[in-house]
Amino acid sequence: MDADGEGSGEGVTGHLGDDVVGGDGSSGGAADGVVGVGLLGCGNVGSALIRLVEDHGDTIETRAGVRLEVVAVAVRDVARDRDVPLPARRFTDDAASVVDHPDVDVVVEVMGGVEPARELVLAALEKGKPVVTANKELLADVGKELFDTAESAGVDLLFEASVAGGIPLIRPLRESLAGDRIRRVMGIVNGTTNYVLTRMADDGSPLADALAAAQELGYAEADPTADVEGYDAAAKAAIIAMIAFGARVVAGDVYREGISGVGAGDIAAAADLGYVVKLLAVAEEVDGAVAVRVHPTMVPVRHPLASVLDSFNALFIEGDAVGELMLTGRGAGGLPTASAVLGDLVDAAKNLVSGGRGATIGPLARKPLRPIDEVESQFYLDMEVADQPGVLARIAERFGDHGVSIRSMQQRGIGAEARLVFITHRAREADLRATLADLRSVEAVHHVGSVMRVLGEEP
Ligand SMILES: NC(=O)c1ccc[n+]([C@@H]2O[C@H](COP(=O)([O-])OP(=O)(O)OC[C@H]3O[C@@H](n4cnc5c(N)ncnc54)[C@H](OP(=O)(O)O)[C@@H]3O)[C@@H](O)[C@H]2O)c1
Repeated sequence: MDADGEGSGEGVTGHLGDDVVGGDGSSGGAADGVVGVGLLGCGNVGSALIRLVEDHGDTIETRAGVRLEVVAVAVRDVARDRDVPLPARRFTDDAASVVDHPDVDVVVEVMGGVEPARELVLAALEKGKPVVTANKELLADVGKELFDTAESAGVDLLFEASVAGGIPLIRPLRESLAGDRIRRVMGIVNGTTNYVLTRMADDGSPLADALAAAQELGYAEADPTADVEGYDAAAKAAIIAMIAFGARVVAGDVYREGISGVGAGDIAAAADLGYVVKLLAVAEEVDGAVAVRVHPTMVPVRHPLASVLDSFNALFIEGDAVGELMLTGRGAGGLPTASAVLGDLVDAAKNLVSGGRGATIGPLARKPLRPIDEVESQFYLDMEVADQPGVLARIAERFGDHGVSIRSMQQRGIGAEARLVFITHRAREADLRATLADLRSVEAVHHVGSVMRVLGEEP
């Protein structure tokens, strides 16, 4: 590669002298406590990581006994000014050469997307080089292939930053809670949608206005589909399920509903009943089967997840021994994400130096996945009905026909404005769907409006 051969290193703010890297091209810096890092990508996360390594290098060396040196960085456009403390000659547009570089001991993948990230990560693992990645899309799509390769090569594949950015989740699940049986992990894992739902609740604004505000603040992309429709959260939910339950889950296995159907009226109705609406990613294991889903959920105001506001993320973990546990913080942003990447990088570097290996997630099992029809929740339903005697009894009968039991009912408005709002006890999704189909055929039911899952009675 051209990292040390070409380009003017002059005029850059870098301090890394050429002497840090074995000038003879020899590897094995790890042996003397110096670990060469190859970076795939230098965008929001990669550039923040380079600055952190520069700023905290001495502290890391004191605490962890390793010296990190960024040896080579792959980008698409080598001509762009990166404003990072690294000589320009360390940059290349030949990503494979970073993986192959003899002085690169650990590869950090922060380029995003599935290809060429997948090929590069596999190549690094096959060469015995540990990999740190922040790429949820990659793990949620081809995680099994990557974990299997890491397993057979006996090298670390670390990915703390891929779920909820700066919040430590993977390590607590994999290490601190390794002896517990995790029953469920529920997360607010998408900052954009949490910001939008918070604005809607605070100002009563419609989704489009709240989304426009998020875009102005840089929380939402120009095309917000991945966030709003729950794709981003679904990828993270798949990774959570892999870690928490050791199950082979890909993003496509995750049942997904975004927030595009949530109206200001739903949020107001939820507030009246003592709930806030959150987009939750839920991974749970019930009777040996794993269920993974993302959908808007009415969360009781007293639940810890209800107090997670704006663009903050949180993970609520339920384990047999630990009970309930919540982790919250910044789920995105270059610096918080780079902080999580750096934690992994230090771990991988320490393991290299000591000749050991970090905790692995082990072989992923082909556990049965519970289809959404079989999942049980409480439900909120709202419907416009004719204000006539006997209507309520006819509606209640339809619920009963499908084994769905009503926990509470309220009538709102009278005459042509009459609406009934129900919250059910726990019911199977399939039974609730059948009830809805039946209710739509009742003449006195003019319209079935919102239907939302409610967090409450649990198995
Ligand atoms: N940003 C966050 O808040 C956040 C949070 C959690 C996880 N992540 C994950 O972290 C990863 C990086 O995110 P980011 O926000 O830093 O992305 P970004 O700003 O778009 O940066 C991507 C970097 O990768 C380089 N790159 C892309 N394709 C390449 C290729 N084929 N060959 C060589 N270089 C290539 C780009 O080069 P150029 O600069 O030349 O275009 C750029 O430097 C993603 O997987 C993302 O999902 C990000």
